[in-house]
Amino acid sequence: MTDAYWPTAEGRLSGGVDLDGREMIMLSSNDYLGLAGDERVLAGARRALDAHGTGLGLNPSIVLTRVHRELADELAGYLGCESVLLFNSCAAANCATLQTLADTPGSTIISDEYNHASIVDGCRLARGRTKVYRHDDLGSLEEQSADLTSADRTIVVTDGVFSMEGSVARLDELQPLAARLGADLVVDDSHGIGVIGATGRGSVEHHGTAAATLRTGTFAKALGAGLGGFLAGPAAVVDEVRSRGRFFIFTSPMPPASAGAAVAAIRLIRDDQSRLERLRANVARFRRGMQETGWELLDNPGPIVPVMLRDDERARRVAAVLRDRGIFTAAFSYPVVPRGTARIRVQISAAHTDHHLDAAIDAFAEAARLEPDHRS
Ligand SMILES: Cc1ncc(COP(=O)(O)O)c(C=O)c1O
Repeated sequence: MTDAYWPTAEGRLSGGVDLDGREMIMLSSNDYLGLAGDERVLAGARRALDAHGTGLGLNPSIVLTRVHRELADELAGYLGCESVLLFNSCAAANCATLQTLADTPGSTIISDEYNHASIVDGCRLARGRTKVYRHDDLGSLEEQSADLTSADRTIVVTDGVFSMEGSVARLDELQPLAARLGADLVVDDSHGIGVIGATGRGSVEHHGTAAATLRTGTFAKALGAGLGGFLAGPAAVVDEVRSRGRFFIFTSPMPPASAGAAVAAIRLIRDDQSRLERLRANVARFRRGMQETGWELLDNPGPIVPVMLRDDERARRVAAVLRDRGIFTAAFSYPVVPRGTARIRVQISAAHTDHHLDAAIDAFAEAARLEPDHRS
């Protein structure tokens, strides 16, 4: 983020939030389904807090609480996979998974160039080598796999939803390609779980790909649990990470309160699609309104709406105009995104009201009037 503005929030988030004493419309939160302040999710957190306190003070490889086991089972059922391992964050899940699976010098990780920083960190921690393919370019991936030998373990790793683009990885093509290379496919679906795919089960559901794919993800975005991550997939591979993953063994578990919140959130979104429907209606309303403003938007099927400013200074100016009008957004420029692709990343939530969305569109229209050549 290029913006030095660093306000203090009061109270709960609900589409808007109090920042430094001023009510702002929040367009930069990962709380896509508005679950972070949902009473049923908070009740799940409180129940777990009452049952287990703040935790056992033990690493998760030694003892797991009842609520952690419940969450692992609930998520395995929700995703339709054999096994789930819980972490204190998705960053830890990525590091543990990549470091464990590529732990010999002969192993290879092949990684999309736009992958999340924690995937990059996992690659750096692995003893195997890392090869980076051009974003979303399967030809480039094949080139990077040219010198693999069958004795090597290979891992292809990708974000399921790329956080700066909002685009979904082409898992329908990546899965068979990884299988042909004899590689494990690891998909970080932090921005996909809960919001992408017909019922919100993520990018794997979006593409209808095989359940054998390994998935990592966070409980701190659409699931509204505040903290926590997971690895989901075939039991044999998940077990490897459980027995050797340094970021699983040598660190604390996600807090029971977050696990309780996540259990409640999964049950809620499994049994009731209304938040997902509201989110999709909100995204459609915002995109429709923004088309009138002339700003260029990147197309994708989810709640991330990148508004392309292209120029770093313009991105900063527009974010400042929006802020003056009570809209909180984040401007991103190089090196977070490639040069010449500065943008404001809008994240829509089911918690946004029509008023929030219309006020945001009006503010973007006002910013467009102050940037006369913004259509170029
Ligand atoms: C794609 C992706 N992976 C992993 C993470 C990290 O998630 P967590 O906050 O659970 O470590 C994020 C969050 O920024 C993300 O966007």
